[in-house]
Amino acid sequence: MTKKAQIIDGRAISKEVLDEVRKEAAGFAAQHGRPPGLAVVLAGEDPASGVYVRMKTRACGDCGIESFSHSPPGDTTTDELLGLIDKLNDDENVDGILVQLPLPDQIDTRQVLDRVLPAKDVDGFHPVNVGRLVRGDDNVLLPCTPVGVMKLLDSAGVDPHGKRAVVIGRSDIVGKPIAMLLLHRHATVTICHSRTPDLPGVAREADILIAAVGRPLMVRRDWIKEGAVVIDVGTNQLTEENAPEEILSIPGKRADFEKKGYTLVGDVALDADQVAGMLTLSPGGVGPMTIASLMSNAVKAAVWRKT
Ligand code: GUN
Repeated sequence: MTKKAQIIDGRAISKEVLDEVRKEAAGFAAQHGRPPGLAVVLAGEDPASGVYVRMKTRACGDCGIESFSHSPPGDTTTDELLGLIDKLNDDENVDGILVQLPLPDQIDTRQVLDRVLPAKDVDGFHPVNVGRLVRGDDNVLLPCTPVGVMKLLDSAGVDPHGKRAVVIGRSDIVGKPIAMLLLHRHATVTICHSRTPDLPGVAREADILIAAVGRPLMVRRDWIKEGAVVIDVGTNQLTEENAPEEILSIPGKRADFEKKGYTLVGDVALDADQVAGMLTLSPGGVGPMTIASLMSNAVKAAVWRKT
């Protein structure tokens, strides 16, 4: 019988992080007479963004962080958003500012993200924080998903030192920063993307394989080296119409379609657990860690602003 991979449980590990954040937020509130504050900006009506933002504001309530929600309409302008960011930058009760992406098409996203004070940039998207990440500085707010991935590896006892790490995906939010964090921890890192020749062959070299492409089940079982650690960053929404048969045949998925109209799957094939040594599931792996890291960054920003 084939041995099944150990599951790295993002839900359980995120709860531990949130317990710690709750204590830190309470300590901050006791010292400063107000809780840490996080402003959440959701421009427009993108349904997936709406779901994520609700999860983030709920997590704030759960941790003792005050959330300030701002929902400009879908036809808002870059200037209006810049005005909102200026107000939040000046607001003493706002320690962190999160601008949910993607922004509507007419918005100059770079200009908006660059306007957030680096000290309030809980997403780690500002060029100052990106530069600090690349340099390996301590006084940096790091992007939430990459931090969550590193925490998963640490909690599972996986030390990247001397390992071959392969990151599939080169986004500014996930692929590039994860690669940098792995590099700082002394992994030998390869970043792959749509133009990489023989992607399966490169993936098979990985001791640590990070799938961050946003393509349902793209990473097949035979892309994975026996015993590798596989982290699935993908959270892809599929409807019954566009779901492949391998999804439709999973127990529970049809119930998802009936209840929610969609189901979620990762970037990694479901039988990867027959080959990998350890892996995360999606949902239930990286997603909860992203939110926990955001909460952690919000408290960190609050504490740093006061010291
Ligand atoms: N959209 C998708 N992922 C993210 C994220 O980590 N932060 C923000 N602000 N928007 C996102």
